[in-house]
Amino acid sequence: MEKPSSAAGSAEVRPVQQQDSLTVVDNRTGKRYELPIQNGCIRTNDLRKIKVNDDDFGLMSYDPAFLNTASCISKITFIDGDRGILRYRGYPIEVLAEKSTFLETAYLITHGELPNRSQLSDWAFHVTHHTFLHESIKKFLDGFHYDAHPMSMLISTVAALSTFYPESKDIFNAESRKKQTYRLLGKMPTIAAFSYRHSLGLPFVYPDNELSYTGNFLNMLFKTTEIKYRPNPALERALDILFILHADHEQNCSTSAMRGVGSSHADPYCATAAAAAALYGPLHGGANEAVLRMLMEIGSVQKVTEYIKRVKAGEGKLMGFGHRVYKNYDPRAKIIKRAAYEVFDVMGRNPLLDIALEVERIALEDEYFVSRRLYPNVDFYSGLIYQSMGLPMTMFPVLFAIGRTAGWIAQWEEMLLDPEQKIARPRQVYLGYGQRDYVSLDERI
Ligand code: CMC
Repeated sequence: MEKPSSAAGSAEVRPVQQQDSLTVVDNRTGKRYELPIQNGCIRTNDLRKIKVNDDDFGLMSYDPAFLNTASCISKITFIDGDRGILRYRGYPIEVLAEKSTFLETAYLITHGELPNRSQLSDWAFHVTHHTFLHESIKKFLDGFHYDAHPMSMLISTVAALSTFYPESKDIFNAESRKKQTYRLLGKMPTIAAFSYRHSLGLPFVYPDNELSYTGNFLNMLFKTTEIKYRPNPALERALDILFILHADHEQNCSTSAMRGVGSSHADPYCATAAAAAALYGPLHGGANEAVLRMLMEIGSVQKVTEYIKRVKAGEGKLMGFGHRVYKNYDPRAKIIKRAAYEVFDVMGRNPLLDIALEVERIALEDEYFVSRRLYPNVDFYSGLIYQSMGLPMTMFPVLFAIGRTAGWIAQWEEMLLDPEQKIARPRQVYLGYGQRDYVSLDERI
């Protein structure tokens, strides 16, 4: 059976077979327990029946950072980190990046199937017709300081959408969810582009519904005095591929935030803002920004060896390397590396590319990285593409968020419709004080 490295099992939920069980002997009591195994998992709640005595709470599992805990059953994304496989709804990422558009992929992720021609045109129509922002949002954006980080602006503005669409709180209404899906996918690029224009002090560019999803985004970012903005097809396609590659990645930090916040039945704008906030960190979606800063700090090909020595000595990490799930070359990194060359053909070679290639070459041969199975991840080359397109580093996590919105929405809906899910609420192991006598302020030393 095909078995993903980070989740519970393959696409089908298998019935429990007689032999699918785990026998546990509790050496504290000598008692034996049979725990059913389904989809490669035991139910952690079954451990609760393992008790020393009747007053005992029961055994728990301790898993900081969820290294080996499946929190849900999902049918959206399959990853095999050892073999470097990533599939959305069964379709390999390489095929989608070659043959599909981002909007088609977003439909696949949110609906479970690829759209036919009429479904796709209907979908594109609805998403496109939700790209405009309420005029008051412009005033809201204007309130940010000129050097506000666009990711902070995006997070706050997405949360603010909740105040414009209070009906989004009706989360168990399928029609309402559909509407919020159009809005979130449609408005993310507009918020992102407006945040960018605000940081430059440039007027906002309104959406152009005749352009593709990604072409319109480029229009809102870069249009100046021309009557009609015509995106460069190579850049439009490269950015569309980047959105496809970032569209979902199963239960990562931001998706877990989306599911966790959504599990309290918060509206999808607040949950998406929380997910975007989780994405902002340099260990997650902020890594592409950190990669560029690292490459600039290294400064030249000659200084790469010295820099890697410092990383190995524990002075920081090699940004864009390593992954919780991939212990092989991240399949997205391979596709991005190819797309990078296509962008450089149009925009000229990014001078940081040579430093990046040297970092990759040395790290892939170095025992430190080889033994820890640290390979370039999705963020290693994406920043170079964005920079070559003329985007500042602060916009990199924002671009990640645009693509990932498709996955967040799909995962949020899957969580809401899963009858087994409840409000997310992990247990803890308490190792603090037992009950203590209160000492009044005058008596404290
Ligand atoms: N540079 C140097 N050493 C590293 C790196 C790195 N980038 N990543 C991991 N290690 C070492 C780590 O120090 C540890 O060594 P030791 O066993 O001696 O203590 C070992 O490799 C295992 O690392 P870990 O911290 O247990 O791995 P993790 O699964 O907790 O962390 C990670 C995964 C992605 C947070 C981490 O690899 C990292 O910080 N990478 C750099 C940041 C980065 O590129 N993030 C983008 C991830 S891809 C985009 C996304 O999906 O968000």
